[in-house]
Amino acid sequence: MFEDKFSIRTKTMKRSAIRELLKLVLNPEIISFAGGMPDPSLFPIKLLGDAVKSVLEREGKRAVQYGPTEGHQGLKEELIKRLETRRNIKINENEILITTASQQGLDLVSKIFIDPEDIVIVGLPTYLGGLGAFHSYRARFIGIPLDDNGMRVDLVEEKLRVLRRGQHRVKFIYVIPDFQNPAGVTLSIERRKKIIALAEKYNILILEDTPYRELRYRGESIPSLFALAPRDRVVSLYTFSKVLFPGLRLGYILGDKEIINQLVIAKQSTDLCTPPFTQAILCEILKRDVIDEHIKKLVVRYRDKRECMLNSLDKYMPELPDLSWTKPDGGLFLWVTLPNYMNTEKLFSKALEKKVAYVAGSYFYYNDSGKNTLRLNFSYPTLKLIIKGIQRLGGLIKEEAE
Ligand SMILES: Cc1ncc(COP(=O)(O)O)c(C=O)c1O
Repeated sequence: MFEDKFSIRTKTMKRSAIRELLKLVLNPEIISFAGGMPDPSLFPIKLLGDAVKSVLEREGKRAVQYGPTEGHQGLKEELIKRLETRRNIKINENEILITTASQQGLDLVSKIFIDPEDIVIVGLPTYLGGLGAFHSYRARFIGIPLDDNGMRVDLVEEKLRVLRRGQHRVKFIYVIPDFQNPAGVTLSIERRKKIIALAEKYNILILEDTPYRELRYRGESIPSLFALAPRDRVVSLYTFSKVLFPGLRLGYILGDKEIINQLVIAKQSTDLCTPPFTQAILCEILKRDVIDEHIKKLVVRYRDKRECMLNSLDKYMPELPDLSWTKPDGGLFLWVTLPNYMNTEKLFSKALEKKVAYVAGSYFYYNDSGKNTLRLNFSYPTLKLIIKGIQRLGGLIKEEAE
């Protein structure tokens, strides 16, 4: 009915398959490995209540007033301090913008950089919400396969050379370096350095997205691309969704001051400012200096869940030559590859009959591939449900193979 009214941009947009699918798995009988949700039993609700009370008592009237687009002054100062003391990243006030979590970061970055037909280089597979944001500004994608050390950076240069020859505009490389969503793999330090060198050589930007960075269960942390690269090369997205509350919708962007200034202008027409009230609450929580302890608790619990899922997969998956899964060092997901003849989109309704859910891997590809892959989340279900759910999934795959 409104076909002649919707913009060309709007007509190409699709609902997120995952957000639609999450509605299906609300049935409490279904064990869901589908979402990317934190374990709600670990939400520090009392801390939140205390922080809300303090904010209302101390600065209630200011906190519910409009605020600056750049973000709450106190929160920015806390974040700058924490970046310096904990991550050894020194930034100025004009190199940070508070956002309504990292999904808004993806949208704003797309808004200021992508013209129709511009190219974004992405992982194969990559985060669906990233693809959605870039696609809504009519980007075109070039995909680079992943292996256990993240994006195959050795394949990037050849692509860049060809694209340059064809005079295509490559705007940025989208990288989720730590415990990638969906594959769970981590970009090695060598590849981080190599990708920065390539971005310098071909004069393109890197968009780094790091929601899982602090959720490491094994091994040593690897410096972020933002920390490794010259300041004008990387735009980096951060969020409190996975380490505190996704419902607060808070995150931030780091980047060159000229980019941040343009993002501020773009954000003004999006939402004027991220709610000052939630920013003041987060500021209060950070000032109490308890978040590191909280993250340690998350790490302990999620490490157990990861272990439990890997053990259950070992135990319940059938022995098939082409069946494998990643063993992530952190984050919330692992990635299963099934024999080529299986199709996880088609298998999904049978999985629901068995009361277990996953996300079919093809949703994380822009090019309709990955039909024999699937993503499993291990942060949300309890240990007991992880065991039971993997038993059901293993049974299903065994039946399918037979
Ligand atoms: C890689 C990646 N980026 C961004 C987001 C968006 O998260 P939020 O907007 O809650 O920060 C997610 C959520 O799962 C994600 O996995």
